Amino acid sequence: MKAIVIRKHGGPEVLSYEHIPDPVAEKGDVLVKVKYCAVNHLDIWVRNGIVGKKVQFPHILGCDISGTLLEGFGNFKKGEKVTVYPAFDSKVPRTSFGIIGGFGKYKGGYAELISVPKNNIIKKPDYFTDSEAASINVSYLTSWNMLERSRCKKGDMILIWGANSGIGSAAILLAKAKGLKVITIASDKNKVKFAEKLGADYVIDRSTQDVTSEVLKITNQVGVDAVIDHVGAKTWPSSLEVLKIRGIMVSCGTTSGSEGTVNIRTFYSKESQIIGAYLGSKSQLISLHKFMKLKKIKPAIDSIFDLKDAKLAHQKMEKSNQFGKILLRVSN
Ligand SMILES: NC(=O)c1ccc[n+]([C@@H]2O[C@H](COP(=O)([O-])OP(=O)(O)OC[C@H]3O[C@@H](n4cnc5c(N)ncnc54)[C@H](OP(=O)(O)O)[C@@H]3O)[C@@H](O)[C@H]2O)c1
Repeated sequence: MKAIVIRKHGGPEVLSYEHIPDPVAEKGDVLVKVKYCAVNHLDIWVRNGIVGKKVQFPHILGCDISGTLLEGFGNFKKGEKVTVYPAFDSKVPRTSFGIIGGFGKYKGGYAELISVPKNNIIKKPDYFTDSEAASINVSYLTSWNMLERSRCKKGDMILIWGANSGIGSAAILLAKAKGLKVITIASDKNKVKFAEKLGADYVIDRSTQDVTSEVLKITNQVGVDAVIDHVGAKTWPSSLEVLKIRGIMVSCGTTSGSEGTVNIRTFYSKESQIIGAYLGSKSQLISLHKFMKLKKIKPAIDSIFDLKDAKLAHQKMEKSNQFGKILLRVSN
């Protein structure tokens, strides 16, 4: 099969388009012919490597997969269109789970064939195209989980960082559909326009405006009910500062660094909460599919690259030039 293989950690140059032997499904697993695999920031973390996290080389990235089943099992038929829930039980102490194509035993979806646990297979909802189905398993599921953890109700005000990102664009669409008021952050005019098109009520351009004072101005100095923070070190101080009393900050990412600063006095005197979110459950993914159909939401897709051009897809994400999800077309 054709695949993008990494044999060491490094920049986009380590993504090597190769012909390699087909995988063999282990007990409890099934082979999926991958149609699309979305690119996620996790792919960049795994490609670059993280101190203390190991992968077994040669490795294959990619956790956001739609495709067809190579063989039937249970209620699933051979050739059935499916989407793959990305988490599996890693048996690592104090870790909720591993992610397919991440730091764990399962190779990912930058390949024509992939072996995944049967339990992770979900029938592709007819409402979504194959490329749309591959866009939802990670950014949309995590955003959905974050919104649930924020405990926001209709009419509440939420701050969402990085409008153009996978997580940010998903969170804006889902938060608006849940009836929340959304303040989001962009960093140039085109990103501001994109955020407005997604339906954000207020867009702050962080290249020309101070985020903290603008959020406080918009909320009459009260602050927001919740913050969706996927950026990490650089944004944590503002995220905590703009929370209203008993506000909730939900954190899922470290794009700008993993050593954040917390003003502890601000944190406790407002009785704030910081909650972590790691992906979401399979049942949340199924509920999300239903919610998106009910609310007629389609994922925001920026671009689709051929598998062999995975380097270009990674470069685009690393430059933050995307407006929504970047995908790889793996097979026809
Ligand atoms: N916990 C989980 O289960 C989970 C799941 C999915 C993703 N994540 C994490 O969430 C993060 C986002 O993932 P993604 O795939 O959505 O990434 P992405 O599409 O690459 O987005 C990166 C975003 O970060 C913003 N950003 C970067 N530096 C910033 C700064 N200094 N201030 C404000 N915004 C900044 C960028 O905004 P500009 O373009 O305006 O610079 C861009 O919108 C990653 O760290 C990823 O690992 C975690």
